[in-house]
Amino acid sequence: MSTSKPTLAIIGGTGALGSGLAQSFAGAGFPVVIGSRTAEKGAEFAQNLPVVAGTSKPKGTSNEAAAQAGDIVFITVPFATQPEIVEAIRPNLDGKLVVDTTVPLMPPKVARVQLPPEDSAAMATQKRLGAGIRVVAGFHNIAAHKLKSGAPIDCDVLIFGDDPKDREIVIGLAKAIGLRALHAGPLANSTAAEALTSVLIGINRAYKVDGAGIRITGIAEA
Ligand SMILES: NC(=O)c1ccc[n+]([C@@H]2O[C@H](COP(=O)([O-])OP(=O)(O)OC[C@H]3O[C@@H](n4cnc5c(N)ncnc54)[C@H](OP(=O)(O)O)[C@@H]3O)[C@@H](O)[C@H]2O)c1
Repeated sequence: MSTSKPTLAIIGGTGALGSGLAQSFAGAGFPVVIGSRTAEKGAEFAQNLPVVAGTSKPKGTSNEAAAQAGDIVFITVPFATQPEIVEAIRPNLDGKLVVDTTVPLMPPKVARVQLPPEDSAAMATQKRLGAGIRVVAGFHNIAAHKLKSGAPIDCDVLIFGDDPKDREIVIGLAKAIGLRALHAGPLANSTAAEALTSVLIGINRAYKVDGAGIRITGIAEA
């Protein structure tokens, strides 16, 4: 495994999306640290997570320790709990790139677009963390079980962030796990992909499928 790869922390990595990302990134040779609200749960979960033969298993610990260990920190927790978890890890994020995957789903009406007062969950995270910590948003429209399947995924990943260089870093990470990822503009645009997830949930229900996704047409294969 190359030691030049950044360590990826997955906050809430015991969950559906986080564990899918953890498995995928570990399988692509990245050092991965899974965070949980309970360090013991994180450690046990990581130990039992299957990874591709020949690659290193993720480590598991508390959300705070994972954020401290990571060079790039993914947030993969439910919207309702996002503020308190972002607040908890904030002291461990100085100088790091944060990738927020949060979708503002507000049960029970998860197939209805409901956006927070900050316009998007990612904008809420950026506001909470302050301008000194860079936030990129993405992976909102990928079904977690598709990541875990290991099969090719027929869905684009839209990446939002105010600095194109930060977007490029996250696009590179998505490509490393076999996803087509695209620059989708400033962080404020994350509203669009967050809203689309509720639309996709409604489409899943209407057509009795479990993984509707999106494809951007009209551009050369990236
Ligand atoms: N699932 C998907 O297909 C998918 C796709 C795209 C985007 N997303 C977004 O990604 C985020 C994570 O989704 P998910 O489906 O992975 O979530 P999840 O499995 O329900 O939860 C992820 C983790 O969050 C932690 N957590 C913290 N507070 C919690 C609480 N009050 N209740 C339950 N869990 C809590 C739990 O870890 P500990 O108990 O170990 O702390 C849990 O394992 C969400 O914002 C979601 O909208 C999900």
